[in-house]
Amino acid sequence: MRSRAVKGTYDVLPESTPAWRRLRSTTETVLGRAGVREIVPPIFEYSEIFDKSVGPSADLVVQKEMYRFEDRGGRSLTLRPEFTAGVLRAYVEHGMHTRPTPVKLWSFGPAFRAENVQRGRFRQFHQINCELLGAPGPLVDAEAIALLHDLLQALGLPDLVVALGSVGDPEDREAYNAYLREALEPREHELSDTSRERLRLNPMRVLDSKDEGDQRLVADLDTPLDRLGDAARAHLDGVAAFLDAWGIAYELAPSLVRGLDYYRRTAFEIHAQGIGAQSALAGGGRYDGLVESLGGPPTPGIGWALGVERVLDALQEAGAAPAADAGPAVFLVPMDAVAVGEAAALARRLRTDVHVEHAYTERKPGKGLRDADRAGARYAALRGAREREAGVWTLKHLASGDQREIPEAAMSAAVLEVPA
Ligand code: HAM
Repeated sequence: MRSRAVKGTYDVLPESTPAWRRLRSTTETVLGRAGVREIVPPIFEYSEIFDKSVGPSADLVVQKEMYRFEDRGGRSLTLRPEFTAGVLRAYVEHGMHTRPTPVKLWSFGPAFRAENVQRGRFRQFHQINCELLGAPGPLVDAEAIALLHDLLQALGLPDLVVALGSVGDPEDREAYNAYLREALEPREHELSDTSRERLRLNPMRVLDSKDEGDQRLVADLDTPLDRLGDAARAHLDGVAAFLDAWGIAYELAPSLVRGLDYYRRTAFEIHAQGIGAQSALAGGGRYDGLVESLGGPPTPGIGWALGVERVLDALQEAGAAPAADAGPAVFLVPMDAVAVGEAAALARRLRTDVHVEHAYTERKPGKGLRDADRAGARYAALRGAREREAGVWTLKHLASGDQREIPEAAMSAAVLEVPA
């Protein structure tokens, strides 16, 4: 992506916006064909929405990654660090549980996390988010994963492999966390600071540490998958069976734990090569129970979010980024003062059919042709006193140099012609 990281966020320059538009329109197509409908939640919410959802051991909380401020009435507001909480808040507030299930919702927009900035990690970034609410079985988990896979594939990312894991049911998690505490507490002093904190709040998250010492310590321990209860195990097998049947490549990821606390059972991520250490393009999982904690009726749910900047970076690496916008069909070159107004007026008329640009001041022919070339135009059309008298424009095809005179009334048809 030809954008620059500035203070932890991105300027998306005009050269890069075609890629953004394509990502959005492909999402509309792929998700729309599966009946997923767009929802546009607000960018900030009352802070309690996030306090009730992301969980006390989430990095967002522990590492104070949320942007919070008080409004003039003294209420705490938070810029969304993710979409799930806000989408579920809207689902509850608008009684969407009465709609036919699963209720399928997608969103696109910015999210904010006060993180240490590096490649693929920004303080303002964008997500495409998808939630499927109201269906408990593994079929809908597999559908969520398939939609993400199909979307990334439709964009042109080759060789995608889904990392599929399970964090178990709440009682499995509790038992596994107790096991980890017992195993790791005696060796606590060997853990990194972050992992010591995680051991206290949610031991499972130690598995997610990038620290090599931590990794060595946990290498021989049982994984969450080794200790799944029967129900969670059957659920995971069910998801895997659908993915097998649909030919979606996945690898079981026994130690996959996500950075947010609300997950139950299915958890998954998709990673890409060649985009640096922040290689997760997307992640998600099942979060039964979360709608209740936001004040709604018992509602199972599963969803995912993809990082727009990371996906665009991966597309660039794969040579699959779309071409820049095409230039104008014609660039009008006024060769005297009167023609400046004529060019602007003709441009307005032609723009009902085609992309037209023009010089805003009088130009010598050579300079005008260079301007047309820089704009990426197919044709340049020149107008001076001679052309005015004859009621024509001199139309030059820039690639071949072919030139002819075209009556003003025939310009629209002439510039639409693409010579062989
Ligand atoms: P997440 O794994 O925190 O999940 O974020 C999803 C994706 O957003 C990541 O895989 C990554 O591509 C991108 N991302 C996250 N943080 C940053 C950042 N600082 N800079 C750039 N990209 C970033 C969620 O947000 C969950 N709400 C997903 C979900 C939806 N689960 C269920 N429903």
